[in-house]
Amino acid sequence: MYQESKYEQGKELNCFRAELSEKDFQAFSSFIYSQYGIKMPPVKRIMLQGRLLKRIRELNMNSYSEYKEYFFSKEGQQREIFNFLNVITTNKTDFFREPVHFNFLQDNILPEFLEKNQGSVFKVWSAGCSSGEEPYTISIVLNEFKVNHPHFNFSILGTDISNKVLKAAAQGVYPESKVELMPLHLKKKYFLKSKDRKNPTVRVNPLLQRNLSLKYINLMDSAYSVNEKFDVIFCRNVLIYFDRKTQEKVINKLSSYLNPGGYFFIGHSESMTGMDVQLEHIKPTIFQKPK
Ligand SMILES: C[S@@+](CC[C@H](N)C(=O)[O-])C[C@H]1O[C@@H](n2cnc3c(N)ncnc32)[C@H](O)[C@@H]1O
Repeated sequence: MYQESKYEQGKELNCFRAELSEKDFQAFSSFIYSQYGIKMPPVKRIMLQGRLLKRIRELNMNSYSEYKEYFFSKEGQQREIFNFLNVITTNKTDFFREPVHFNFLQDNILPEFLEKNQGSVFKVWSAGCSSGEEPYTISIVLNEFKVNHPHFNFSILGTDISNKVLKAAAQGVYPESKVELMPLHLKKKYFLKSKDRKNPTVRVNPLLQRNLSLKYINLMDSAYSVNEKFDVIFCRNVLIYFDRKTQEKVINKLSSYLNPGGYFFIGHSESMTGMDVQLEHIKPTIFQKPK
């Protein structure tokens, strides 16, 4: 039934016609849901099939069932898991995505923090930070605030389960088109243009990386390897992949890492309505831990 790519008369024929069977899909989807919270209903079967095909080709395997055998073996669980996470996660992100949050940070949270917490470090967690656009945007806002408040100090933690996006975040190199809509003065100050005009990229100014640390954290873990409390947590466009019960659990766990009075942002298509969470609703998608 399964055939590898074949060469015939000097031409490559891709004869890989296998499908991800419902049974194999079920095995992967239960694993993804139980370990990473990401829901994978049956309508996502073709999508998962497409995403896994890339890995199957790279591993020179002949079928989805061969990949499944390998993936669930002891060796596979140690060696394949990160490649698997890189292909199954959806990492869409942008600089200044959902700008209302960054305006609120600049106009409300930062002045309030400075008034009450002279001398302490302002800490932000970008949970599900993808390739870094979100933590770098936070860094731009905080660096801009620092211009008029030189004693203001901050640190940013960016976390994700895909090591591919974490690596991209650490490199801080993006296609120039990604900063096209950014105000010119910020672009000039915080991004360096590449000389390669065929493949125009920008590199973040090292200033944006100075107070940023990046690491792997699975929001589904029972305890996070984080030993600090935060003044703001961004967890945007991550919960949307989880079901309500999991969202509630993750929000409660994350809020336990917030200082009293700390803020929590979710994405604009996400909601906490009807959830049993210890956060007060401030504005749509903006919440605060009671003081
Ligand atoms: C669509 S991106 C959102 C990026 C950014 N927060 C934004 O709003 O632009 C979602 C990110 O969440 C990450 N993610 C998904 N499940 C996760 C989990 N269980 N723990 C941590 N990160 C997760 C994905 O790898 C992905 O990079």
